[in-house]
Amino acid sequence: MTDRVAVVGAGQTRFGALPHSPVALLREALREAFASVDRGLDPAQVDEGYLASLGFGGWQIGNPAALLAESLPHPGMPVVHLENACASGGSALRTAYQVLRGGSADLVVVAGLEKMTDNPPLRRRYWLGVSGETEFERLSGLTFAGVYALMAERYLRERSLGPEVLGAVAVKNHENGCLNPKAHFQKRITREDHARAPRVAEPLGLFDCCPVSDGGAAVLLARGSLARQLTDTPVWVEGFGGASDTLALARRESLTSLAATRAAARDAFDGASFGPREVQLAEVHDCFTIAELLALEDLGLVPPGEAPAWTLEGRTGRSGELPVNVSGGLKAKGHPLGATGVGQFVELFHQLRGEAGGRQVTTAERALAHNVGGSGATCTVALLAR
Ligand code: COA
Repeated sequence: MTDRVAVVGAGQTRFGALPHSPVALLREALREAFASVDRGLDPAQVDEGYLASLGFGGWQIGNPAALLAESLPHPGMPVVHLENACASGGSALRTAYQVLRGGSADLVVVAGLEKMTDNPPLRRRYWLGVSGETEFERLSGLTFAGVYALMAERYLRERSLGPEVLGAVAVKNHENGCLNPKAHFQKRITREDHARAPRVAEPLGLFDCCPVSDGGAAVLLARGSLARQLTDTPVWVEGFGGASDTLALARRESLTSLAATRAAARDAFDGASFGPREVQLAEVHDCFTIAELLALEDLGLVPPGEAPAWTLEGRTGRSGELPVNVSGGLKAKGHPLGATGVGQFVELFHQLRGEAGGRQVTTAERALAHNVGGSGATCTVALLAR
């Protein structure tokens, strides 16, 4: 019988505009992940490692995964650098999960890392654009926010909604970020702040966008038998789906639903012990506020057509029936690209073990992490359970 896989340790740096070098961020995240393993873990026990990163902008290192082995330290450990746009973290975790399920390793470390703020604004825009499509989108002048603005515009029109529904996502996630000491923003905003914010790409304003962040995160995954030796409270990976879609929006059937999210969710729930409506806590990829609304329905977390109502009625709030992005999400916790998907696991690991401090959601036993690359060209969905 195939062994189960569990998360046995997880840690991350603060996300934000940080003075630290990429190596310092990586080391801090790894230190915290190892320190969280209940019965301790010698780095030499790790069989292999994955480093998720876009190598964004200023710190381009052609072979960054070697830093992972060096930083543990576990010289000689096999390492792989994995790049899948903003879904790099989720994709590296999914690869590690498959390696463990396949039985060729017992313990794998996955780290996510990005240093974004050492680039001037024009270069940042250039680097953000490379995760999208070039021929129709980038060369026509669309920014990344512009791509999601097209989706948002169509969504609001199709459903006869105003931008208040986007504001409800922004206010909630900023509120959640206030409880997370590792969030990029710990700053409350009101619906009025959202409405009056500088425009970025209509209908999206400043508070509809995730920030440009630095950060590192690390997760230790083990096969079931070893996981039980390392901790009494492993967090089980109950399913892990992946999917892709066309790079260009123009080649998609719909602008208001991500086919890659739908397919990755089907893949994750296939054979899982619980279904989408039994998920009690979700970290979804809200790179722009519209993306959270799309995710709620594409993942099947709420019935079709009901994401706006659930959001406006506070049902996705911290004390609602389905808390979404209690970490602050990409919107307020921050979005250091390669670290984001790994950071989602860090949040859910602590939540499911009851270690999330002031933002603890007490009843959650079944959770979902959703990580999207570009404007939905790549996607992973993971199911975690206490
Ligand atoms: N949300 C809330 N506040 C933000 C913010 C955001 N996304 N981005 C910047 N700010 C704040 C800053 O903290 C700063 O506040 P202060 O004046 O109180 O210090 C102020 O806005 C100006 O910051 P600055 O860095 O000059 O903003 P900017 O205009 O250069 O960048 C965006 C704003 C929205 C363009 C930028 O955050 C961005 O490009 N976000 C999207 C990133 C992205 O596309 N990622 C990939 C997605 S898949």
